[in-house]
Amino acid sequence: MTVGKKVLELNNIDKTFGAVNALSGIQLSVLAGEVIALVGDNGAGKSTLVKIAAGVIPPDQGNILFDGEPVVFRGPMEATRAGIAVIYQDLALCDNLSVVSNLFLGREIQNGIPLSPLNEEAMESKVLELLKELNVGQIREIDIKVGNLSGGQRQTIAIARSLIGEPKVVLLDEPTAALGVAQKVEVLKLIRRLADRGIGVLVISHNISEVLEVSDRVVVLRLGKVVANFETKKITSDDVVAAITGSKSFN
Ligand SMILES: Nc1ncnc2c1ncn2[C@@H]1O[C@H](COP(=O)(O)OP(=O)(O)OP(=O)(O)O)[C@@H](O)[C@H]1O
Ligand SMILES: [Mg+2]
Repeated sequence: MTVGKKVLELNNIDKTFGAVNALSGIQLSVLAGEVIALVGDNGAGKSTLVKIAAGVIPPDQGNILFDGEPVVFRGPMEATRAGIAVIYQDLALCDNLSVVSNLFLGREIQNGIPLSPLNEEAMESKVLELLKELNVGQIREIDIKVGNLSGGQRQTIAIARSLIGEPKVVLLDEPTAALGVAQKVEVLKLIRRLADRGIGVLVISHNISEVLEVSDRVVVLRLGKVVANFETKKITSDDVVAAITGSKSFN
């Protein structure tokens, strides 16, 4: 997949919480088909940036363009509807429901009539199609309760769930933080496959080797500012660490 046009553009975003300048003058574009890794120390502003792009909190200043058009999200539903999906570390899945129910939670396919029985067959075949497309071999039983799945499988379900609305941008806030080694590898592959589908992907991670492996670009936040925007293939982990700690200037 060649990297395409800008799908998401954040211009001059500022956000303060009381006396804390969480973000200032943020400039960031996400292109179709690329994976951006967003890195920075604890408190650098990464999650705040994702929340603003996802419509969870409004910026104090600045504007957002989606698909080249200015947008103002008054809540997360509006961002979802526009085509921005978010996946958080603390996996918002319902343990007592099946894989299928989790995937369609809140947007169940009905037979066209309100309050009619849910179209189980249509939902199941859509789930199987999605999991196949994502090349997820390990989940065979889709009527299993999500609480019985491993962390990696749950993360896969969370990612698959985000794709049901056919997003153009997927934002992931530390999707691998709670995972084991093998599960991490699977989720990283899945992230790459999202970009291969033409989705613009932005992933927050503290794991630098993972960042270098999965991303096309690395954007570094430090004290609420973008201090570096690297092409991944041109850098080493030392550059990323230097930008994160501020021991070297890259702008
Ligand atoms: N709702 C809030 N109220 C007050 N301060 C906040 C709020 N959300 C974030 N902050 C502050 O804004 C700054 C940036 O926080 P943010 O969560 O974006 O950091 P982060 O880069 O995601 O850190 P981490 O790597 O630890 O997750 C921090 O100083 C944090 O304490
Ligand atoms: Mg965070």
